[in-house]
Amino acid sequence: MGLKHEVLRLLEENRESYLSGQEIANRLAFSRTAVWKAIHSLKEEGYQIHAVSNKGYQLDTSCDLLSSEGIHAYLAEDLKQFPIYVYQQIGSTNTEAKQQALNGAPHGTIILAEEQTQGRGRLGRKFYSPKGTGIYMSIILRPQLHLNQAIQVTTTVAVAVCRVIEKLTNQNPHIKWVNDIYLGKQKICGILTEAVTDFESGQVEFIILGIGLNVNTVDFPADLHEIAGSLNPKDVTRNQLCAHLLNELFSLFSKLNDPQVLEEYKSKSNVLGNWITFMKNQESYEAFAEDINEQGGLIVRLKNDEKMILNSGEISIRWTKI
Ligand code: BTN
Repeated sequence: MGLKHEVLRLLEENRESYLSGQEIANRLAFSRTAVWKAIHSLKEEGYQIHAVSNKGYQLDTSCDLLSSEGIHAYLAEDLKQFPIYVYQQIGSTNTEAKQQALNGAPHGTIILAEEQTQGRGRLGRKFYSPKGTGIYMSIILRPQLHLNQAIQVTTTVAVAVCRVIEKLTNQNPHIKWVNDIYLGKQKICGILTEAVTDFESGQVEFIILGIGLNVNTVDFPADLHEIAGSLNPKDVTRNQLCAHLLNELFSLFSKLNDPQVLEEYKSKSNVLGNWITFMKNQESYEAFAEDINEQGGLIVRLKNDEKMILNSGEISIRWTKI
């Protein structure tokens, strides 16, 4: 890691206090001049760094640039070895992650971008990913799983995102089946899970877990105005959000079969117990959402009392206005 990155790591780890140039120089075993140059270069990259005589350097509280160092500072010890790549602009972090996974990138590789020009959502939709105001993150997972079990990854991620929002912002998010996260009636986060499996055995080779969370997003395109919203956390940076998300995610992944996670998922659902409209094979149906089974299927009852299990891939649902 170059000096500039080391200095950034120290500044991110010490957001609450000032660090003198001498202290940074001592801790990193470089000269004060070298440290000063590194600070200068960070400022040129857009980092707002206060320099106060007799005190030293400190990141401005509003400084919210994504960086591997900023995330590492809040990451659980056992996750610190995961490689984190932050792009300023990219087509899609999921596409990049898939490419890296095909090239052999290890379990736990994390790809983030400040902006996506071709952010992808479920069912071939686009995911609006403007610069600097969201978390667009993809994680490469190499679990020992059969494709049938992979659905649990999706429900687990939705629970992890909700937990972190509750913990860091005191807000009360809900999950719209399968894995959209809502605050009130507005979607603030989408999750796109893509898997590459061995065709014959059905064994998962790798999973790309893509999370798009709107953070401090103000301007949505006209078609999203009513339905999209944003998390506007106070005194929480996107790096902190990312790190907490990763901590929660990997801790929950270790209990993938825990029935309590599915119970928590259900308790956060804004679909269960409601009338919904869904499209299947170009036909529209109204149904009452009754339950979610262990495979993540949504169990609904149609008006003629017929029971149906909806699977995620093919269906889009909305609440029925009664
Ligand atoms: C959805 O809402 O349908 C899912 C949206 C998933 C968006 C994330 S952003 C990071 C990753 N890269 C992508 O291109 N998509 C996912």
